[in-house]
Amino acid sequence: MGARHVAIIMDGNGRWAKQRGLDRTAGHKEGAKAVRRIVRHAREQGLEWLTLFAFSSLNWARPPYEVRELMDLLVQFLADEEPELLANGIRLTAIGERAYLPRYVREALERVERSTAHCRDMRLVLAVSYDGRRDVVQAVRRLVHMAARGELLAADVGEAHLMAALSTADMPDVDLLIRTSGERRLSGFLPIEACYAELIFTEGLWPDFQTADFDAAMAEYDHRERRFGMTSAQLEAAPAFGR
Ligand code: IPE
Ligand code: IPE
Ligand code: MG
Repeated sequence: MGARHVAIIMDGNGRWAKQRGLDRTAGHKEGAKAVRRIVRHAREQGLEWLTLFAFSSLNWARPPYEVRELMDLLVQFLADEEPELLANGIRLTAIGERAYLPRYVREALERVERSTAHCRDMRLVLAVSYDGRRDVVQAVRRLVHMAARGELLAADVGEAHLMAALSTADMPDVDLLIRTSGERRLSGFLPIEACYAELIFTEGLWPDFQTADFDAAMAEYDHRERRFGMTSAQLEAAPAFGR
């Protein structure tokens, strides 16, 4: 089966701009065009879930003008794309520490979350001010509260409780995780959700990421054998085990 849920760490905007002697923010603008291109293409290809790392919790440490530009670009993206999301049945939701976002960004996000809530053909998830370990912390906090209220016994806590307490509760596991720009790290992206994801690291910078690169990653995914702990021989005998 092809990948249902693709997650992308969109990296390399700054280097793209630097190579051209431009300000980093020019790279982010070009990166936003790549987001549009890939969202459109993923929808055309019938992908069910696309999660994009747009801004990490650590990115707040960047120069204030760059942070501001990234926030403005996000709001711009939401305003520009809303009609297309609606026309194509794409529901947009966000994960991350939304309380940390400036109010105008939070409101723009929530407006599009509401207006696309009925869309069923694809889900686009934006990770904004997201960090996986912090998300696990808030999940643990929820479970501890439940236990304190007597709704959960320690002995009963299972994987399902943890998964349901994460901000990604309604999402399937990540099948394929792509990071552009030659960096080979996860930077806190979906550590639990992508724990059995196929990882693909591409050398190109995010603004240069083309639909053909997306297709190549999907094709590479299809060629990998996902054994889920079993042997190749077992999978050949009972292919249904390879999800
Ligand atoms: C990714 O590009 C965009 C964000 C992190 C918001 P970068 O801005 O990290 O680009 P590089 O890594 O400096 O090239
Ligand atoms: C963080 O990118 C993830 C995003 C693309 C938003 P960075 O480029 O900031 O990641 P690190 O910290 O260098 O790994
Ligand atoms: Mg980077």
